[in-house]
Formats: sequence, structure tokens, C-alpha cells
Amino acid sequence: MKKRIVSGITATGSLTIGNYIGAIKNFIKHQNDYEMFIFVADLHALTTTISPEELDKNRKEILALYIACGLNHKKSTIFFQSDVPAHSIFNWITITNTTMGELSRMNQFKDKSAKTKQSNGTDNIPTGLFVYPTLMAADILLYNPEFVPVGVDQKQHLELTRNLASRLNKKYNLNFNEPKPLFSEIGSKIMSLKSPEFKMSKSDNDKNASIFLLDDPDLAFDKIKKSVTDSENKVYYSKDKPGVNNLLTIYASLSEITIEKAEEDFKNSNYKEFKEVVGSVVRDFLIEIQKKYSESLINLPSIAKEGSIKANVIAEKNIAKILNHVGYKKF
Ligand code: TYM
Repeated sequence: MKKRIVSGITATGSLTIGNYIGAIKNFIKHQNDYEMFIFVADLHALTTTISPEELDKNRKEILALYIACGLNHKKSTIFFQSDVPAHSIFNWITITNTTMGELSRMNQFKDKSAKTKQSNGTDNIPTGLFVYPTLMAADILLYNPEFVPVGVDQKQHLELTRNLASRLNKKYNLNFNEPKPLFSEIGSKIMSLKSPEFKMSKSDNDKNASIFLLDDPDLAFDKIKKSVTDSENKVYYSKDKPGVNNLLTIYASLSEITIEKAEEDFKNSNYKEFKEVVGSVVRDFLIEIQKKYSESLINLPSIAKEGSIKANVIAEKNIAKILNHVGYKKF
């Protein structure tokens, strides 16, 4: 029997090349060898202030991008989280088995709550931001996978998920696996083009810091050309050169080569030449994705329906078992 994989992407904004290299590319790599459940985390999107129009647009865009990037709905179950009610029911069980201390220690919560305070000028932190990791744990354990392909920024959430699996197993005599993260070999953390010491993010206010999968390809080329590097003008991978490392990583991942081979390709190049080649690779990649994106929009309703049916079959069976063990026994 094939081992199972579960993962998702939050519908909070347009997807970046970081989401592609750190997550989607890894989904596609494994779709022949694993049984995959890949969803759009559209319930998680409510942890930010998002209008109904934006939510509607983002969730459909992500589903279409999954297909455009190469996920095959005949091989993998692709669905909207909100189409599977068991995620929310199970979330209550994961919340009630988590402590405030555990959730307060989540780095992403600390970062995002600090940013929220800065932007709204108050101490009002949305509860959703705090309990976000428990929903993620529910998303995962509901399908009881072996692996979860994610970028390194999700490592701590996966640790919490494993702790919860072991806790629920002991408390309720269940048999959850303790799922392990699967990181991309190259590019499990793509950095901002403007501040390469920080992660590239969908929600960065500076739109020049991220390459979006639906960016105009020429604009993306310009973003790479204007990206922050350093003053040495020599291309090689080194811990003191975060901007250059990031471009080498993007280039290596999209060209399916190693970082060493990428360094070799640019050993005689200055930064202008280097950025032009990386920019062209990114531009060609976006042109290809965007061509498929328009086609994938047509089949979206039927793909979402099929995915929801397949996911609900597993989710309903598993939540029934979980509820039974927790004490909600049927007559
Ligand atoms: P999200 O939506 O922030 O990101 C989606 C996926 O993309 C990865 N990623 C990156 N990888 C490399 N470089 C980057 N700059 C970069 N930015 C993002 C993330 O690590 C992630 O794998 N909580 C999750 C969504 C989620 C989920 C789940 C994931 C909800 N439930 C269950 C796995 C399993 C999130 O917000 O990811």
C-alpha cells in the first residue's frame, strides 16, 4: 500500500515562487509514489483580515494553480478544507488538548502577532492566529499520513502535530502516526528579494520582495534584476551572501540542478549577467505556468467536487472513529 501524504496552502494571498519551490514542487514530485491529500487551507485564511471577495478569489486561484503547476487530480485528492466539515470538528478536539503555553511558544504566532500589533496599533490579537496550529494538526491527523511536505517555516507546527498525535494516542487509545515533515532538497526557505535575511511571503507589503506565480513575467524578470545582493560582484554560495544564495537556489530549483552546478554556471559572470539569466529562467517558468493556469480554471468546479467527495469518504470514517474513542459513543 502507498504511504500517505497530506499538505495545504493557506488562502491568504497570491502564491509566490517560495510556495512553489518549498511546497508545490514537492507535492508533484511525490504524487506517483504516495497517496496524496492536498487541500486549499481556506479556513486558515480567516486568521487574517480578509474580505469575502478576496477569500473567494484566493481559494479558487490556489486550486487552479495546483493544477497548473502539475498536480494531477486523478492521482491526488485535491480539495477545499472548508468542503470537509470533519476538519472543524476535529479542531475542537485538538484545541482542547493543547495548552496556552504551547501555542504561545509558536514562532509564527509570535511574529504574526507582533506584526498585527504594529499594524493596528492595539494589543488585539485575533484568537484565530493563536489557535491556527491546532487546526493545522487536525488537518493532518484527520488523514493519518506518514509525511507532510512543507517549507522549513512549518517545522514547529509539525512538532506540535506530532506531540498531539502522541498525546491523543495515549489519552484516547488511538493510533495516529507521528507525521514527519518532508522538505525540498533545494529551496525549503526562499528568501525575500528585498531583505534576503527574511522569508519570501505572500503577505509582504513590498510587492517587489516576492515573485508571485501570476506576476506579469516581464515584471518578475525586473524584480530579479532589482533584487538585493551585495557589493562583491562574484557569484558563489556562502553564508555571508544571502541575496546571491537565494538567486542561486531559485535558479537551481527551477532548472532541476544542484547548487554546485548553478555556481559552476556563473563562475565567470558578474551580477548583471547572473541576474539576467536567473530572471529569464523565472520568466520562462511563469509563462509556462500561466498558460496552464488559464486552461485549469475551466475544469475547477468538477475537480473541487470530485476532491471533496474523495476527501470526505476518508475524513468521515476517521472522525467517526476519533469521536467514538473520545467518548461520543453511538447508541
Ligand atoms: P503557507 O500558506 O504559509 O505556505 C504554504 C507552503 O509553502 C511553504 N512556504 C515556503 N517554502 C519555501 N520558501 C518560502 N519562502 C515559503 N513560504 C511558504 C510553507 O512552508 C508551506 O509548506 N499552515 C500552513 C498551511 C497549512 C498546512 C496544513 C500545511 C494548513 N494546514 C496542513 C500542511 C499541512 C501555511 O500557512 O502555509
